[in-house]
Amino acid sequence: MSNSGMMSTPNEQVKQLPTLYQLALEELETKFKVIRSEWKHRNGYSPIEHIKTRLKEPKSIISKCERKGLPVNLDSIVNKIYDIAGMRIVCAFVKDIYSILEHLKSREDLRIVEIKDYIDKPKPNGYQSLHVIVQVPLVLFEDIRWIYVEIQMRTLAMDFWASMEHIIFYKYEEQVPPHVVNELTDAAKAVDMLDRKMLELRKEILNYNHQDWM
Ligand code: GTP
Ligand code: MG
Repeated sequence: MSNSGMMSTPNEQVKQLPTLYQLALEELETKFKVIRSEWKHRNGYSPIEHIKTRLKEPKSIISKCERKGLPVNLDSIVNKIYDIAGMRIVCAFVKDIYSILEHLKSREDLRIVEIKDYIDKPKPNGYQSLHVIVQVPLVLFEDIRWIYVEIQMRTLAMDFWASMEHIIFYKYEEQVPPHVVNELTDAAKAVDMLDRKMLELRKEILNYNHQDWM
């Protein structure tokens, strides 16, 4: 996002930020509505179970700047923090996630900035998701602003694990007992097994119906 806006002071630009991020999320949601509808039309099913969006609270943005050693100013917020706008896409199958990724890469109305594949390489605690930082263009009067959005894609099973992990540890400030960490990591392995099992079952049914999976 360029730092233009000849008429507006930095203060006014800061005030405009939540609106810009919200609009970028809405633009992206519209793109996904089209993707869902077209996919369903062509393949008889939608790869997307549900989508959630959120904006980061100002106090979390400030603490993230501090954590990253960045000055708390407009330039850092706009150019260095990528997850002020967040979108979570939950799919039935891992395969759907990679199909969506390929589709996103092929679009000219999005820029892919970074891909972190925690499905291929889960975090040490077992966390799995595919994180993609994109930039979404917003056409304004004076220019086009490319707004950062963090997209997290995961299966229903991965989403269950991540939500439970968050609930279990929410605001827990102490050192986590090692056996709890180990058992959660084991639970993440069970999630991975479930995803594989469901994929096998899906393939078997498709085979049985002599259907291909796009
Ligand atoms: P920050 O963005 O600074 O937090 O670091 P990063 O860029 O290395 O983070 P990363 O892209 O790995 O993860 C960012 C987001 O993914 C977090 O805000 C969470 O929403 C989610 N996430 C990452 N790790 C975990 C985890 O272990 N458990 C859960 N429940 N969510 C996680
Ligand atoms: Mg991040």
